[in-house]
This record gives sequence, structure tokens and C-alpha cells, in this order.
Amino acid sequence: MTSLVGLFRAVARPSFLKTFPRSEAKITVAMRGIMTQQNLPHLPVPPLKKTLDKYLRTVKPLITDEEFKITSNVVAKFGAPGGVGEKLQSLLEKRAKSTTNWFADWWLNGAYLEFRSPVTVYSSPGLVFPLQNFKSSDERLTYAAKMIAGALDYKKKLDEDAIPVEKLGKDPLDMSQYYKVFGTCRMPGLTKDTLHFADPNNPPRHIIVSHKNHFYKLIVYDDNNNILSWGKLLQQLNEIIQSAGEPGPPIGVLTAENRNVWGKAFKKLSEDRENMESLDIIKNSLFLLCLDGPNPDLGNLNFQTRAALQTVHGNGSEANSGNRWFDKTVQFIVGDKGEVGLTYEHSPAEGPPIAFLMDHIVNYIEKAPSDVAGGKSPKPEKLKFNISGKVQKVLETAKENVDKLVDDLEMSCFTLKAYGKEFIKSQRMSPDSYIQMAIQFAFYRIHNEPGAHYETASTRKYLDGRTEVIRSCSLESVAFAKTMLGSKSNEEKVKALQEAVTGHKQYTIEAVNGFGVDRHLLGLKLIAIENGMDIPTLFMDTAYIRSSHMRISTSQVSGKCDSFMCYGPLVVDGYGCCYNPLPNEINFGTSAYKSCPDTNAEKFRQALEKSFIEMHDALVSVQKSKL
Ligand code: COA
Repeated sequence: MTSLVGLFRAVARPSFLKTFPRSEAKITVAMRGIMTQQNLPHLPVPPLKKTLDKYLRTVKPLITDEEFKITSNVVAKFGAPGGVGEKLQSLLEKRAKSTTNWFADWWLNGAYLEFRSPVTVYSSPGLVFPLQNFKSSDERLTYAAKMIAGALDYKKKLDEDAIPVEKLGKDPLDMSQYYKVFGTCRMPGLTKDTLHFADPNNPPRHIIVSHKNHFYKLIVYDDNNNILSWGKLLQQLNEIIQSAGEPGPPIGVLTAENRNVWGKAFKKLSEDRENMESLDIIKNSLFLLCLDGPNPDLGNLNFQTRAALQTVHGNGSEANSGNRWFDKTVQFIVGDKGEVGLTYEHSPAEGPPIAFLMDHIVNYIEKAPSDVAGGKSPKPEKLKFNISGKVQKVLETAKENVDKLVDDLEMSCFTLKAYGKEFIKSQRMSPDSYIQMAIQFAFYRIHNEPGAHYETASTRKYLDGRTEVIRSCSLESVAFAKTMLGSKSNEEKVKALQEAVTGHKQYTIEAVNGFGVDRHLLGLKLIAIENGMDIPTLFMDTAYIRSSHMRISTSQVSGKCDSFMCYGPLVVDGYGCCYNPLPNEINFGTSAYKSCPDTNAEKFRQALEKSFIEMHDALVSVQKSKL
């Protein structure tokens, strides 16, 4: 992954109201819900001194004392009265006054639309739903039909403005991401991508089903705009399965290519009228549903890991990576053995709206009426692609490249069965902070040094808010890991854990309120660039580089059901670690790159499990001693 995405990782998106017409006559019911959120507060620009002090604290565990002296001088000079920091701060404050969110557009462009590496593995997460055990093709197709109906039911609720406003504590969160999931598509460009949103005045009435690398248009509403019953959707899916024939060329792997390469190929592909029509139908569809084929032999990986790989990349050009259109915001995936979930293109939304969608679908499937089949349903239409010699050449390279990506990604996914967030709460600790400290501890256990550690915090309490970084590596987290690994008493271990958790929770509160370090510093850097100024030394300093090289990239994405999100590491020598804390267990999706000799996802998973158990045992033992 490039350093650019390292700088930008997390997400932002365009101002919703810039994308859609403001005229009242054109505003749909759902958009009115968004309009009422216009009075959400604006993302603040933190005071410079506060950020610089916090920054110094966060870099200390990652650099030597000698380096820290140099960094302290660099920071002092940057923040000195009348210095460059003050100048940049006032420019940033000016920007904040003239925008709804001073960071949002920078983020959308820098982290996503100008990011040229493949979205597959590097940017688009997978979300694994509760795993299934399909005993027949009929069972699988029934699940797929209900999945489509459940997604459409959720969209209906959005259209009716019936999805409750998400809250963080008492604060309502910006809901606009929820409305950007259906009908959205990332369009490849030659040097920068764009986002296509469905026209709210002429909303899409179709989805795309992919099977054996073929793409089918499926009308999912009747003439009165009622959602087709799952029985009728099932008829259409059956027709696709029966008529698909031989697998087509895996044209979908083009969407897993480097974005410049895909942008160029897209232009070539669009020169053909039939191709243009097919591309438009995909672009304008509500979402994709991928009916996958078999996978290659994946050895002795557990089912959770298999499903994770299937959702993140589809296991290569000979398996299911060509049965995708990675530009589409949401692609539901139904594997032949019961690997079910989705992958989503990250630029329009963070994980939580996607996890809400999943919970709705899972609930819908469980409660769907037993049979509503009968009557005629519209015929699926197979999309045509004419592949010229030039595009064929790009396709051959795209196949090789996606296969390399697939070969390089190691995942190890698991459920920590021993305990979940209820136990942690019973210890009067924040479950999220506790989990973060277990991750820090696991890294330290393996590498004998701390790792710069990114956790996503939502800043959606602000208008157009996206994310801030919680820097989970701290002086307290390192002290805690050392205490756990040393020959200390359980009392000392528990005390170190409590201090580390408290420190992390404090940073979390500051981050969700927009007072982290990373977005502010990046804003100061970008405003310098925008104004043609030199990039300040602070951004070239060892401390900045090391503390931004996020060796551990983590997120909590909590779903109510037995699910987890997963993604690739942020840096070549890093780990990805996403988790869903359930009441009595915790699901994890962890990853590493095989090409890096220093990291190993399976080892990380083992270290993580061991860390959780040792933390638990120390707590229980101290508790018992007090009885
Ligand atoms: N004692 C007992 N209970 C406690 C506690 C304590 N000391 N501290 C917290 N809890 C409880 C909370 O009240 C909460 O209870 P609830 O489940 O009944 O609501 C629960 O534990 C969870 O709180 P906590 O673990 O502290 O985390 P959080 O829910 O505040 O989440 C973040 C923290 C950072 C994950 C969240 O703020 C956030 O930003 N989420 C979005 C992340 C995101 O965007 N991810 C996607 C990236 S693509």
C-alpha cells in the first residue's frame, strides 16, 4: 500500500448536498431526512498547541530518546509564536469557516479517488455474514433471493426515512453515508476517479447478478414499484443458473487493477456501443449480487478465513475475482459452500452503515414469509461485452496482477470464545479500549517493540464527518505489554492494564470529538501545499514518518449478528485487524502480507488469543484474591 493511503486512511466523502440538487421540488423523502441534519455541528480545527503536545506524547514510544530531543525541537519551532504552524493554523481556520467540513473533500480525494492502487485488498473491506451450510443449489439460491429482497426492504426504509438516526452516546450522527450505498459506483479515471450517484428523481429499478463472470440485469420492482417477492427473484436466479453456460472471460478483474490502468482500459472498452450500454447498466444498478463458483484448494484454512478471502478478493482470476465489479459500492456474495457476505467500495461510506444493512438483511432472511412465489417475473438480461485485442491484453495482465494480490494476502479469522464485551464491562473497562490494548500487547509479544497503531474513530457527530485516528500505541500501552511479559504480580498487571485502557479511552473521546492528532496535522500539511508553501520539517521528521507508518490497522465494526469485517494491512510490514465485539465472544478478521518476512497473520492470531487469555486470568485472579 502506498504511503499516500497511509496518510489518508479511514475515509471521507463528498458533501452529499453538493452531489444532489438542493431544489425542494427535487428532494425525495429520504433526502429530507438528510436536510434536517444540516444543523449538526461543524468539525472543529483543534488548537495548535493542544495537538502538538498530544503528538509528542504519541511519538515517544516509537522513537529513541535522542530522536525525541530532535523531534521536540522541530515541534517547538513549528509551534513557536509567529512560526509557520500559526500561519498554517489560521489558513486552516479560514478554510473551516468557508466549508461544511474542512477535511471531507481532502479526504475523499486523497484517501480514495486519487489513490491509484487497486481497491481490492488495499481499500475495499469484506464483511462476512453468519456462515451458511447450503445442502443444495436450491437452498443457496433461496438464500440469495432473500438476501436481495432484504437489501431492497432496507432501501425502502431508507426511502421512507424510517431508519433511526444512529447515535454515539447522546449525540446524533451524520446519516448521509446511509443514503450513498445503493446505486453508487466509483468510476475509473486516467489519474483520478469520480463517484457516480443514482439520480434521486429517476431511481434505479434493477440490480446486477454476476455468475460465471457473466453479468445480468435483473429488474427487482413490479410495474407499481413494489419490490418483487423473493419467490419471483428466485425464479430469475434459477433462470440465470440454467442459462449461464460456460464461464465468460473474467472481465471483472479489470476493476481490481491499478486505477490508472483500469481508467485507460475503461475508456477503450467504452468505445464500443454495446460495451458502453452494459457499463451504464452496471453503473446505474442498485447493487451487485455475486453467485460464486467453486474455489481452489485453500488447504486447512478454517471456514471463517475462507469466507473472508472470498469477500475480500474472490480467490483469483480462475475462481471468483472476475465474478465481481469492484467499482460498485455494494456487492453481496453468495459462495457455493455457504460463504456469504459482501464487499464494499470504501469511498462513499464507513463500515457502520454497511453493518446496519447486514443486520437488517440477516434479520429479514430469518423472518421472511415461507413462500410468496407464483406469477410472472421479468426475464434477466445478459449484458454483452465485446473485448478488443487491446482490452484483451490489459485483461491478461489484470488476471496476473489480481492473482499476485490474492497470493500475497494471508488472513486468519477467528472467534475468541473465552469471553466478550460483557466480561470486560463487568471489570468496569471500555470493551473497545480493552481490545485495543490486547492488540498492542499481541504485537509487542511477537515483535518485542511497539507498533504504530491506527484505530478508526467516527467523527460523524459533525456534519459530513468521517473519521479520525485513535493512536492506540501509547506510553501506557507499552508499559502494559512489558508488565504482562515480565515477571510481575497479577495486581501490577491489572493496574498496568487499567492505566492503558483509561489512556486509550481518553484518546478515543478526544478523537470522536475531532481532537485527534492525525487529521489536524494532515490538514496543516495540505493547506501548506495548497498555498504553494514549503512542506514544514515536522512532516519529514523521523517521528512523523514512524508514527504514521501504521503497522497495526484496526477498526471496530460491530454487527448484532455473528459477523465480522476484514481487510488487508495498511503497510507492507503491517497487520489488518477488524473486530466485532459480541456479548460473550469476539470475532476477528486479521491479515498480513506473505511477502513480508516479519509478519504472519496466523502467528498474530495466536498471540492475540494468548494475550486475551492472560489478561482475563490476571483480572480473575486479582478479583478472587479480594473475595
Ligand atoms: N465500564 C462498563 N461499561 C463500559 C465502560 C466501563 N468503564 N466503558 C464503556 N462501557 C460500555 C459502554 O457504555 C457501551 O455500552 P453499550 O454497548 O451498552 O452501549 C459499551 O461498553 C461499548 O463502549 P466502548 O467499548 O467504550 O466503545 P464505543 O462503543 O464507545 O466505541 C469506537 C468506540 C471508537 C469504536 C466508536 O466511537 C467509533 O468511532 N466507532 C466507529 C468506528 C468505525 O467507523 N469503524 C469502521 C471503519 S471502516
